[in-house]
Amino acid sequence: MARKVQHSLLNKAKTNKNDEFYTQFSDIESELEHYKNHFKGKVVFCNCDDARISNFFKYFAQNFKELGLKKLISACYKKQERDLFNTEESENGSFYEYTGTIEDRIEPNSQDIIYFNGNGDFRSTESIELLKQSDIVVTNPPFSLFREYVAQLIKYDKAFLLIGNINAITYKEIFKLIKENNAWLGINLGRGISGFIVPEHYELYGTEARINESGNKIISPNNCLWLTNLETSKRHEDIELTKKYFGNETEYPKYDNYDGINVNKTKDIPSDYNGFMGVPITFLHKFNPDQFEIIKFRKGNDEKDLSINGKCPYFRILIKNKRIQAEFIELTKKKKSQQVTKAIRNLGINDNQQVYASK
Ligand SMILES: C[S@@+](CC[C@H](N)C(=O)[O-])C[C@H]1O[C@@H](n2cnc3c(N)ncnc32)[C@H](O)[C@@H]1O
Repeated sequence: MARKVQHSLLNKAKTNKNDEFYTQFSDIESELEHYKNHFKGKVVFCNCDDARISNFFKYFAQNFKELGLKKLISACYKKQERDLFNTEESENGSFYEYTGTIEDRIEPNSQDIIYFNGNGDFRSTESIELLKQSDIVVTNPPFSLFREYVAQLIKYDKAFLLIGNINAITYKEIFKLIKENNAWLGINLGRGISGFIVPEHYELYGTEARINESGNKIISPNNCLWLTNLETSKRHEDIELTKKYFGNETEYPKYDNYDGINVNKTKDIPSDYNGFMGVPITFLHKFNPDQFEIIKFRKGNDEKDLSINGKCPYFRILIKNKRIQAEFIELTKKKKSQQVTKAIRNLGINDNQQVYASK
């Protein structure tokens, strides 16, 4: 019940375009520790972040030297408030640049920030100018503009690490990026992201909502992910496959509208199946592109949702095991060459004659 309420809170953020879920320092820290090798000499841009309140800015400013950053830019939209949730607003967006010198403040105040001429929308020319100077964009952008936000980063060919809703995987633009290996899920997912600071006026419901030690309201929707195109070693770790298809065929029913089997849990992917398999979207959290290939999302040959005896399991991703395919190709080659040798022998041609014949 509580989970349902929290999901609807996030959905409300989406429809209201409030988008006011502020990321906690601890969640940023626990994700960023896996990417430290990417930041040396780089310009980081947090473009939905008021440097005066953003924990993204705080994280990079505090770790500026350790990461070897060249510059940190934090820019925010017009309605960003002075402190987390008071009512002071400005029609202009603003930004702050931190270069790690003693003149730069790690905790900037209103005098330190520079106002844009416009509203600081991430799509504005002024914000895009800052984007062009940057190498890596790291933030939690507005949920309601996620597709557009990611599309802009792809257009400008930027590295990124972003928080989004798990549902973003189901957006065709985002799925395409993942399928084509241009983006992937980060390390933490769902409960791995502990919660967001929400404005005072948010009502708190259920067990997934609380007030923290600093008096901030926190909700834990448990349905968020990190999306990135920064490499980690973890994404090249194989999923351990302990189940077998052959001998347990009834556990893996075939789809009505696709030549593949249904697998309900990632841990149940069989190690011996060489065909297409439909797996839940959470598979992407464990996905190793060296081990599996993503084929298609959700739809069968008739472009309707994948179904088993007329019933559709919740969004499935069709995958194929690359390693079995490779083994299968190798085996077929071996078998073919054995057959050829046998055929030649049957014709009574010896090895020398074969060499001569092939010259
Ligand atoms: C989900 S909140 C996250 C804020 C901050 N990045 C963080 O993680 O704490 C998204 C932020 O984007 C801002 N925002 C909304 N629309 C925007 C736009 N078009 N351009 C830039 N920022 C926008 C909102 O005001 C909000 O502060």
